[in-house]
Amino acid sequence: MAVASTSCLPQLNVPAAKQVEAAQMASLANQLWGSSSSLVGQKSLLCSRLHGPSHASQKVVMTSDFEKSNPYVDELKKTAAYIAQPGKGILASDESNATTGKRLATVGLENTEANRQAWRELLYSAPGLGNYISGTIMFDETLFQLSRSGEQFVDILKRQGIVPGIKVDTGLQPIDGTDGETATQGLDGLADRCKRYYQQGARFAKWRAVLKVDSDKCPSSTAILENAHGLARYAQIAQANGLVPIVEPEVTLGPGDYSIERTAYISEKVNSHVFRLLNEYNVILEGILLKPNMILPGLDVPTPPPEEVAKYTVRTMLRSIPAAVPGIHFLSGGMSEEEATLNLQALQAYGPTPWSLTFSYGRALQSSTLKIWSGKEEFWKAAQERLVALAKANSEAQLGKYRGPHPSPGGARILQALRLGGAGK
Ligand code: 13P
Repeated sequence: MAVASTSCLPQLNVPAAKQVEAAQMASLANQLWGSSSSLVGQKSLLCSRLHGPSHASQKVVMTSDFEKSNPYVDELKKTAAYIAQPGKGILASDESNATTGKRLATVGLENTEANRQAWRELLYSAPGLGNYISGTIMFDETLFQLSRSGEQFVDILKRQGIVPGIKVDTGLQPIDGTDGETATQGLDGLADRCKRYYQQGARFAKWRAVLKVDSDKCPSSTAILENAHGLARYAQIAQANGLVPIVEPEVTLGPGDYSIERTAYISEKVNSHVFRLLNEYNVILEGILLKPNMILPGLDVPTPPPEEVAKYTVRTMLRSIPAAVPGIHFLSGGMSEEEATLNLQALQAYGPTPWSLTFSYGRALQSSTLKIWSGKEEFWKAAQERLVALAKANSEAQLGKYRGPHPSPGGARILQALRLGGAGK
């Protein structure tokens, strides 16, 4: 039996010897797909999937039920594309109250609500910040806060063209029986919180999963599976409620002499598991943003040059991130402020890539800004200028046009704990 031609696939000239094989294939197809009409029906269905329904009378499922029933699909895609636009990145300012307290303590400030509010107001109201920043991640308390003159923070941000975002995970808990590996908490009540955040003006969310790496057993398969699952379920809930999920699988920079190749290998595995699970949960890839680590060796290994970081980072992303994702927003992860800019710039040499390669920096935008301010009104303006200069340097690096000098040259790695452990932190 020859395989019948269809109108949409290329015609094949099947030699006689191949016809037996084709018949076997047709019968296998019937067994697999339960079709009564040989491969023709299957090819028609395939054609209709590729080119629309005109070739098939069957009901054709083009997308998942999740995508079809989601009223926010267009908005999610637009928001993600807006945030990932060329020359812009994200200001991560979603430290919990406890972590913010640790940061404020480094410049001698008490952890009061008034101090946290003043610090965030300094960041969000910095003149010109919106030229370089397209989104800001906030903490629950901050999303609902007002400036000292009574204006909602979300309105200040929107005026700057900056999309307000919200951290929705509630911190890390140890996974029993592992070598200090963690699971991210926060799925309970997440849908209700997302609804409240959307109402308050948030349009994207963040959930940080942390994967510990060493030269031996970490991350364990338990940790990879647990964290990939958490990210996927969170992403689905966020999209169901109108928030673009930032998916953050952070293979975290830590002590040890593990090589850059090992981080690359582990990050590729982790990313691939995460996208496998995102697919399982029908998460709409055009409506997410990815926030991974750049590829760096352990802290006991000398800091590699930007070209080496870029080579492994782009290779890892090309191997593990689907092209449908609009933006890859790297975390700074403990790099110094200048290192974060130089590495971001080096990535662009590999372009054009299917996604934008940009930033979602916390410590690399805030550290010297906070030091300059130190809670003193007279340094408010200078601190804002530093923040905008850092954002501008990273914007130029995103465009591959950064020429320096850097606003915060040199500098050591910034390794204060990013997040304290425990639910609610
Ligand atoms: P860093 O840039 O300080 O790593 O923080 C980014 C972030 O938000 C991690 O969740």
